Amino acid sequence: MNSSASQTTKTTPVNRLSEAIGQTVTLAGWVYHHRVSGKVQFVVIRDGTGLCQCVFEKTALPEAVFESVKRLGQESSLMVTGLVRAEPRSPGGVEVAVSDAAVICPTTDFPITPKEHGVEFLMRNRHLHLRSRRPWCILRIRHTVIDAIRCFFNDNGFTLIDTPIFTAAAGEGEQTLFAVDYFGQPMYLTQTGQLYLEAAAMSFGKVYCFGPTFRAEKSKTRRHLTEFWMVEPEVAFIDLPGLLDLAEHFITSIVARVLKDNRPELEELDADIAALEKITPPFVRLTYSQAAEILTSDRTQRFLAEQLEHFKMQKAALEAELAQIEAAEKKGGLKKWQQEKNARRIPELRSEIAELETKIENNPKHAELAAGFTWGKDLGGSDETIISLMHDKPVFVTHYPRQAKAFYMKTDRSDPRVVENFDLLAPQGFGEIIGGSMREDDYDRLLARIHEEGYNPDHYAWYLDLRKYGSVPHGGFGLGVERTVAWLTDQRHIRNCIAFPRLMDKVYL
Ligand code: 4AD
Repeated sequence: MNSSASQTTKTTPVNRLSEAIGQTVTLAGWVYHHRVSGKVQFVVIRDGTGLCQCVFEKTALPEAVFESVKRLGQESSLMVTGLVRAEPRSPGGVEVAVSDAAVICPTTDFPITPKEHGVEFLMRNRHLHLRSRRPWCILRIRHTVIDAIRCFFNDNGFTLIDTPIFTAAAGEGEQTLFAVDYFGQPMYLTQTGQLYLEAAAMSFGKVYCFGPTFRAEKSKTRRHLTEFWMVEPEVAFIDLPGLLDLAEHFITSIVARVLKDNRPELEELDADIAALEKITPPFVRLTYSQAAEILTSDRTQRFLAEQLEHFKMQKAALEAELAQIEAAEKKGGLKKWQQEKNARRIPELRSEIAELETKIENNPKHAELAAGFTWGKDLGGSDETIISLMHDKPVFVTHYPRQAKAFYMKTDRSDPRVVENFDLLAPQGFGEIIGGSMREDDYDRLLARIHEEGYNPDHYAWYLDLRKYGSVPHGGFGLGVERTVAWLTDQRHIRNCIAFPRLMDKVYL
């Protein structure tokens, strides 16, 4: 190889190396890890598809190349050429015996090292943090989730309709609208594509939209972004049980795809694969009134008390592990590999302990809120957490009180206190990932709801038209991509599940 990187050199992706054992290949990537041991250097290269150990032996390389590689810091970019050989101890089961290399951009002092970094620091350096293993694994899974979503709807007779981002009226409550100046006219960033999709469903039958969605939610919680991605299907001639079945098949297909395509990433993230394997139909189905009964029951108080004890025990065990590592560090004399292992484990332990402390602090508050839950309130984040913690399958909660929900939801004709809607709660405390409903298809009832909410009926004239011309029972739902990825990858905070998160109080880059 000549010493400048050639754009035309054919390179082999790391994730295809196992098919190239015995061949000489060229890799292009970045230094992930570098260890010099006398006349041999071990450089782990990452290329975006995986990690590969490359062995540089002084005697097998031009002297100048060997020396130039020696000084390379983490994230230096380079190309290497060498023989692929099987090496079970190496990541990916192969390694490359390097015969030539070209440094593209030597780097020193890359700010993100295996040592401890706080969330703030990592988020401020998100442009560089994306190269680290955890964001890489999470965003690979996000990629699969998005592809699985599109495949599901495309394979099941849905037509994709791209709904607008600029909208004139609220879909999900005026208090969470982002206003923009549209040539002097008030306009808003979309909260949902649903209202437009309903129009499209009357043309195509089964439709979906998929795009970024904006909510000016004054919620600094781990479940809220101001910009998130939502997929929304809408179906004409369906009923509530039909919608639940659709959502159940949809979620099952996403989980199955991630289990098939991303097992190594799930393992690396320490996600609960056994729990994901249990995600098969049927899911749990509860009405809101049943959920309210569960929340105020003695069983829930006992469950929360047991949880608290469990958290305390977990915390004590982690603190003991941390103390042991810190004592060993203080004593000194550790091998380099032990120091590196500790450097990775210490921040993990600190963050797990901090998480448990939050859970221990919140537990009594959650218990109090649950005990005082009254019929008529929307389920709050902590109520959803409790219901979802008590089940190892996703839980549908249906038939919420009318006043707690959006104006477009269809009133249940057999119980006008409630609407024909559902939320789907992911298990193990992750909470709501889908919200959906049947839509009010009666003109007069819908108009009355618009008035009740204090909305301007003129803004909804076209939407009301759909109830004038061939109105039919119809419904749909919206799934939040980041919340789904957070559940699948076991992330506490959804900011980790989008490349560049937008939070109420923080836009980092
Ligand atoms: O329950 P929501 O508000 O439903 C709708 O927008 C309906 N129009 C959907 C429909 O029926 N077509 O939101 C649906 C999902 C939630 O379950 C959640 O996963 C996600 O969107 N979501 C958020 N995700 C991140 N940050 C936020 N601020 C979110 N708000 C909703």
